[in-house]
Amino acid sequence: MADGDDLDLDVATERLPAESLVRSGADDVERAAEAALRPRTLDEFVGQRVVRDQLSLVLQAARRRGRAPDHVLLSGPPGLGKTTLAMIIAAELGTSLRVTSGPAIQHAGDLAAVLSSLEEGEVLFLDEIHRLARPAEELLYVAMEDFRVDVVVGKGAGASAIPLALPPFTVVGATTRAGLLPAPLRDRFGFTGHLDFYETHELERVLLRSAGLLGVPLDGDAAAEIASRSRGTPRIANRLLRRVRDWAEVRGDGMLSLAAARAALEVYEVDARGLDRLDRAVLSALCTRFGGGPVGLTTLAVAVGEEPETVETVAEPFLVREGLIGRTPRGRVALPGAWEHLGLDPLPGPGTLFG
Ligand SMILES: Nc1ncnc2c1ncn2[C@@H]1O[C@H](COP(=O)(O)OP(=O)(O)OP(=O)(O)O)[C@@H](O)[C@H]1O
Ligand SMILES: [Mg+2]
Repeated sequence: MADGDDLDLDVATERLPAESLVRSGADDVERAAEAALRPRTLDEFVGQRVVRDQLSLVLQAARRRGRAPDHVLLSGPPGLGKTTLAMIIAAELGTSLRVTSGPAIQHAGDLAAVLSSLEEGEVLFLDEIHRLARPAEELLYVAMEDFRVDVVVGKGAGASAIPLALPPFTVVGATTRAGLLPAPLRDRFGFTGHLDFYETHELERVLLRSAGLLGVPLDGDAAAEIASRSRGTPRIANRLLRRVRDWAEVRGDGMLSLAAARAALEVYEVDARGLDRLDRAVLSALCTRFGGGPVGLTTLAVAVGEEPETVETVAEPFLVREGLIGRTPRGRVALPGAWEHLGLDPLPGPGTLFG
């Protein structure tokens, strides 16, 4: 099973303000809560039909041949199910999963130690694989291709490399930044699955399933409401579900009805489109104080009282994805949807204040 000591949870996507309910990363406490909600089989895994189908073929074929399947690379934004799929792969193969991550491996030797302890057919999950240090990466190439690791003994001029044969195993790599993976590493994966944001109706199914596991009474229309505010991300859906449950238990009658969902999400300042306070502050500053832009990131950040990095990594990706703001060489601009979302009349032309 997963080797807890090897799991480094300090990945870049988690350096986010703790108060936001709609951030896509997760901290340790949340990951513990998530563990209970993870689907355990491909059939239980909601949505991602294409990846699920393809993966199912890869796994069935491998099982039939009685061999470890090709290495699998899973890419996609945080919270869409990469870790979940890695666990499912091991479970479907009836083998154990060894867990480590790019940032946890400081030296090539750390990786060599993990690799040389693998047993036949095991799945090695390498999370945040794009953060692997170069020497470890090179060691991994050889291990993935030739099932061999060169163990260096001794130091300096007297050092020598002893090749050690490894039993067949499968690497499952996960990355939120597939573009950062060097081509030679990418090429060593026989199968790459890209996870995309979920449709609202898929998140409804995720929510109803989670509610069942948590034993909370969730109405269908409440599920739809929470799903539509979850930014296409199961992790956010499950998090909002837990907050709605809190509200229902403390201020309501325990039932997760549509009214309870709306009241709870109002308290937590998650609006109809899944925007939180910071997202709306950014939109509002852009539209009203800067006349729609273009305005530089730093100025915009000062206007909302946040670090530029926070605005850039926490608020912007979703606002851009939703077509509410645009990034131009001269700065950030509000798109028509931004005014609409704030209930304002768009300015007649592009902003002139800072243009
Ligand atoms: N297809 C799915 N069906 C049901 N639940 C899902 C699905 N995908 C993800 N989840 C749930 O969402 C949560 C987050 O998923 P997971 O940890 O696999 O995301 P991730 O892609 O590994 O994110 P990160 O990049 O932050 O590591 C888990 O609790 C999991 O149960
Ligand atoms: Mg993960």
